Amino acid sequence: MTAGSGSIVLVGAGNMGGAMLSGWLDKGLAGSRITVVDPSPSEKMQAKIAAAGARHVTTVPEGFKADILFLAVKPQMMDVVLPPLKPIVGDETVVVSVAAGTTLRYLTAQLGDAAMVRAMPNTPAMIGRGVTGAFANARVGDAQRQAVDALLRVSGPVEWVATEADIDAVTAVSGSGPAYVFYLVECMAEAGRKLGLPADLAMRLARETVSGAGELLNQSPEDAAQLRKNVTSPGGTTAAALSVLMAEDGIQPIFDKAIAAARQRAEELGG
Ligand SMILES: NC(=O)c1ccc[n+]([C@@H]2O[C@H](COP(=O)([O-])OP(=O)(O)OC[C@H]3O[C@@H](n4cnc5c(N)ncnc54)[C@H](OP(=O)(O)O)[C@@H]3O)[C@@H](O)[C@H]2O)c1
Repeated sequence: MTAGSGSIVLVGAGNMGGAMLSGWLDKGLAGSRITVVDPSPSEKMQAKIAAAGARHVTTVPEGFKADILFLAVKPQMMDVVLPPLKPIVGDETVVVSVAAGTTLRYLTAQLGDAAMVRAMPNTPAMIGRGVTGAFANARVGDAQRQAVDALLRVSGPVEWVATEADIDAVTAVSGSGPAYVFYLVECMAEAGRKLGLPADLAMRLARETVSGAGELLNQSPEDAAQLRKNVTSPGGTTAAALSVLMAEDGIQPIFDKAIAAARQRAEELGG
């Protein structure tokens, strides 16, 4: 991977930080470049850090500046986590935060006027199949942007957006999006159960349908609309269902409402 050659300090090696770290090491990033700050990483994570020759510390190391400071702690931990990190942020540092709702204004107030990237990955990052929206402030240089892009890309494609406000919309569409798809599985299974199928069978059918359709979408060069048309014979069963789903009071207005609610919540969290 092409994540530059400087030092990387990862703060928080939980679900997201741990998934990113695993991806970096799997892609061949040298462990010697990485310092992990976390009071109590899982045993599995500790073993991974040790095997890679990375450094694990429980408090922020002194006497050096990080080239990339990667923040993967919960937003509510930021008030505690950030002050001791300020000394390792220098003129050449780029700060990357994946924390939902934590604004660059807040990070700048805590860490100083540094190059910063706010990124929003999603849960399939855990299996290297996420998608990340990212916004860079004006201080981020080309090389820094490339290095951060490479680090984020281990969990899937990275989409750079033009404004920080777009990150709230990204959060609403893809950050929270996996939950919408899981709920779709629940709804399909419940509808099947109401038609008389055993509940466990209905769930297996719905689960395999959604994951299989997702994989087909992943592997196909065709877009979602074309794939839908491909399986919709005029006057057939799929067309009958889609006439309900795509009606004026079908699922588009519900998604409009749901995703707007998620974006509003993201805005509120960001203060
Ligand atoms: N999970 C997702 O799908 C997802 C998606 C998009 C964005 N994010 C963002 O990613 C961030 C992390 O979420 P997560 O789900 O990975 O949370 P998590 O599993 O709780 O990971 C956070 C890690 O930070 C550690 N930590 C706590 N206090 C610390 C400190 N003072 N210094 C260093 N590390 C500390 C935690 O240790 P303890 O467990 O011992 O407290 C834990 O290992 C959040 O800001 C979230 O908004 C997550």
